[in-house]
Amino acid sequence: MDKKFYITTPIYYPSAKPHMGHAYSSIIADFFARFKRIDGFDVQFLTGTDEHGLKIQRSAEKQKINPLEFCNEISQTFRNLSETLNLTNTDFIRTTEDRHKKSVQHLWSQLEKNDDIYLSKYSGWYSVSDEAFYNDDEIEDIDGVKRSISSKSTVEWIEEESYFFRLSKWEKSLLDYYESHPNFIGPESRKNEVISFVKSGLKDLSVSRKSFSWGINVPNNKDHVIYVWLDALTNYISALNYPDTNNQLFRNFWPASMHLIGKDILRFHAVYWPAFLLAAKIDLPLRVYGHGWILSGDEKMSKSKGNILDPIEIINEYGLDPLRYYLIKEVSFGNDGNISQERLEDCINSDLANNFGNLCQRVTAFAIKNCSGKIPEKIKFEKDDLIILNKFKDNLENIRSKIDKQNLNFYIDYIVNSLFEANKYFNDQEPWKKKDDIIRLNTIVFTALEIIRKISFLLYPIIPGSVLKALKIFNLNENDIKLDDISENEFLIKGNNINKIDILFKKIEKNND
Ligand code: ME8
Ligand code: MG
Repeated sequence: MDKKFYITTPIYYPSAKPHMGHAYSSIIADFFARFKRIDGFDVQFLTGTDEHGLKIQRSAEKQKINPLEFCNEISQTFRNLSETLNLTNTDFIRTTEDRHKKSVQHLWSQLEKNDDIYLSKYSGWYSVSDEAFYNDDEIEDIDGVKRSISSKSTVEWIEEESYFFRLSKWEKSLLDYYESHPNFIGPESRKNEVISFVKSGLKDLSVSRKSFSWGINVPNNKDHVIYVWLDALTNYISALNYPDTNNQLFRNFWPASMHLIGKDILRFHAVYWPAFLLAAKIDLPLRVYGHGWILSGDEKMSKSKGNILDPIEIINEYGLDPLRYYLIKEVSFGNDGNISQERLEDCINSDLANNFGNLCQRVTAFAIKNCSGKIPEKIKFEKDDLIILNKFKDNLENIRSKIDKQNLNFYIDYIVNSLFEANKYFNDQEPWKKKDDIIRLNTIVFTALEIIRKISFLLYPIIPGSVLKALKIFNLNENDIKLDDISENEFLIKGNNINKIDILFKKIEKNND
């Protein structure tokens, strides 16, 4: 197969249990992985945990356990979350694994060999929470506490011997690269932020620390550990067995198709990472996309306010697919988005229960009663049927190209409109009044069933579990889902049984007090 797609999530800090923001990035990445898979791509999908650095060391110290034990436990909760979210990740990397350490040390040696690393002394501001260095002009003083202006996290002054990466040397190459690869950074608005940051001048980057030990050693100098971001970013290639660039995984999947991240860590992915790769003479990823943040109003999240953001709690209460659907639909992709339980419930009731669930129920019930429970055999399409059926074929290329631009908003709108039109079609055609014109009745039922199938295929990357249940109507399973087949108007096998299925989504009783 020559259609390859490699997508990554950030590797998350296992300093505390996962929250809704982590779930969001992972669900979106899974959406793309599943979409590409049904579109015939061989997909590699990586997620994992970022386990070194002072932030983790301090979190472990607080609990008086050694950092590795601390990480073992919390990393496992992230791995569990991947399963709970029904992610189709093909790998889960931990930066404490040997495969990763070897890879990072090799990359370091390459940088050193190419004269991109030198020993000097660092003094400046550091945020442990962000694991990031900040310049004076990126710091503000609020009531005597120094904070990063962008992240609001507190910073501390550090002064110590440190290795530096010659980031300044790559300024021009980076700018040239952004210019010659206009799709490298998305969305467009954030690309401009990155470019102006680089244009404002890059200083060499401190890439090692001496004052703590929880990290990967600098080769040939055990007094230093490698800066956690140089360590972490390398995960994207260590999972492909770098430095063995001749192995199948690396050859098939590097450069990555897309690093999906939150906008908080765009600078690391769009400036530092490509600079390291340029210096090590490794190809750059094709795209880095920094999505927006999930907010829960101006209010702090709390159960009593009904804006809780613990993904596990939400899933326990509403189920996984409603959460996946809601996050993909309601957070305008690329922008920040407020989420609330209220809106989640509306989404379940209107889109999932009333539109999709109800369409499946009423059409199958009608077919079971009026078509002997079989996919109708004698049919004759008329203009109305072909108009609604052919829309999918006519939009297929457009859907593909919108997804390649990460235009999730288009995708979801397309589905919502299709559901609306499908319900309208069934109402307007009034098959219950066609009992003396069996061909017409059959054709309407067949058309409606085909539309359910097509929409189910499109919904699969969003709500895979529910779609697989819906496809039981036709005895179809996961391997039968191919994006190309939304063009097909007579995909269903005539004469096959139609199965009754359980309610897909329960409506939420809303108390209006
Ligand atoms: O930054 N809304 O890990 P991290 C949306 N280890 N997404 C959010 C979010 C929110 N409110 N909060 C977090 C790190 N995220 C590094 C990454 S990668 C080589 C190393 C998501 O645990 C979003 O993807 O702080 C964000 O970029 C990421 O979690 C940060 O996770
Ligand atoms: Mg963070």
